[in-house]
Amino acid sequence: MKSLKFAVLPGDGIGPEVMSVSLDILKAVGQSFNFSLDYEEADIGGIAIDNQGSAFPQSTQSICEASDAILFGSVGGPKWESLPPKEQPERAALLPIRKAFSLYANIRPGLLYSELTEASPLKTNRIPNGIDIVCIRELTGGIYFGQPKATREEDGETIAIDTMIYKTSEIERIAQVAIETARARQNKVCSVDKANVLETSVLWRKTVNEYFAKHAPEIELSHMYVDNAAMQLARDPNQFDVLFTENMFGDILSDEMGVICGSLGMLASASLGASKNSLDLPFGLYEPSGGTAPDIAGKGIANPCAQILSGAMMLRYSFGEHEAANAIEDAVKRAVTSGSRTGDIAFGIEPISTEAMSQAILKELP
Ligand code: NAD
Ligand code: IPM
Ligand code: MN
Repeated sequence: MKSLKFAVLPGDGIGPEVMSVSLDILKAVGQSFNFSLDYEEADIGGIAIDNQGSAFPQSTQSICEASDAILFGSVGGPKWESLPPKEQPERAALLPIRKAFSLYANIRPGLLYSELTEASPLKTNRIPNGIDIVCIRELTGGIYFGQPKATREEDGETIAIDTMIYKTSEIERIAQVAIETARARQNKVCSVDKANVLETSVLWRKTVNEYFAKHAPEIELSHMYVDNAAMQLARDPNQFDVLFTENMFGDILSDEMGVICGSLGMLASASLGASKNSLDLPFGLYEPSGGTAPDIAGKGIANPCAQILSGAMMLRYSFGEHEAANAIEDAVKRAVTSGSRTGDIAFGIEPISTEAMSQAILKELP
């Protein structure tokens, strides 16, 4: 029997709660599709600071390096917010792990089932058939990583600097991911930037135009300023098919996409890089698009769907288990649309716990 080797990094807040049930789902689907799980769990984020004195311990990195994929929960929370900014879990664990494995391509599907439109803050008549779009976000460049990045005293006051920087090769490689994504969908890409103000965006737009003209002339390419894109996403999300953008704009737009698709608790993600795993498939990190949800952590009520669907993406991209991935996605859809819902998507239906949601999904698996 094939054995899938991956690292499990639950992290903080709701991370461990949603991770535990997503492993139950992966185990169950493995029995039907004839694979077993060979995973190793490790600390990351705040829990790693507490247990090992470092947010991204070397031992955790080694476990990830010896794996074919990483299943990630979320990191951060109030407990660690008083640490110096560079030592907080987000900057000391999440960004370094993305960088360490060159995970430059973040794929966030925005899917709202037509049966769930009442969970969206958008009026149902604007999204009668639900929503089906995808955001391709550049993940290892831009203002998140540019140098210099510092806070210092100057002329008697404090100044802080972040640097937004992109080079052509970084834009071209993520453009390729947008092209491949669009080819598997509607052949339509909207590239989002702020080319009326930012030099990085001027380069982004020029590079994207040239790259698409040369490598994918069949794809309908459009450009939109990010402020307008934020507005258009709320006005008529289905005008987009593939939303394609740089790191920070993608962070912001994908949360907006999460809420119009019902809840951040439904929004999965895959972060892929150039490297291949031992199966000659993309090495990737799979995580919900939302965070540790401190407001509901520890209560057993978080929506596990984003974590479970991230597990499905892992099966598809890093293990080539397409049928098992489809089975999970179908089971989540059937469970949710037949009325099993955690509080964030309940809207009129009696909300159920994380565990009950997972049981409902298990029942829908083949
Ligand atoms: P958040 O995504 O944690 O929460 C925003 C809102 O969405 C909250 O009301 C929360 O309850 C809700 N929500 C998110 N996921 C949910 C789920 N699965 N089920 C039900 N509701 C859900 O964002 P925040 O409050 O801005 O951040 C909290 C902490 O998480 C911060 O420390 C932040 O830096 C961190 N964070 C981590 C990641 C990550 O590890 N990838 C991502 C985003 C935020
Ligand atoms: C996300 C998160 C992270 C990001 C934070 C926690 C560093 O918001 O994955 O969307 O900004 O990339
Ligand atoms: Mn975010």
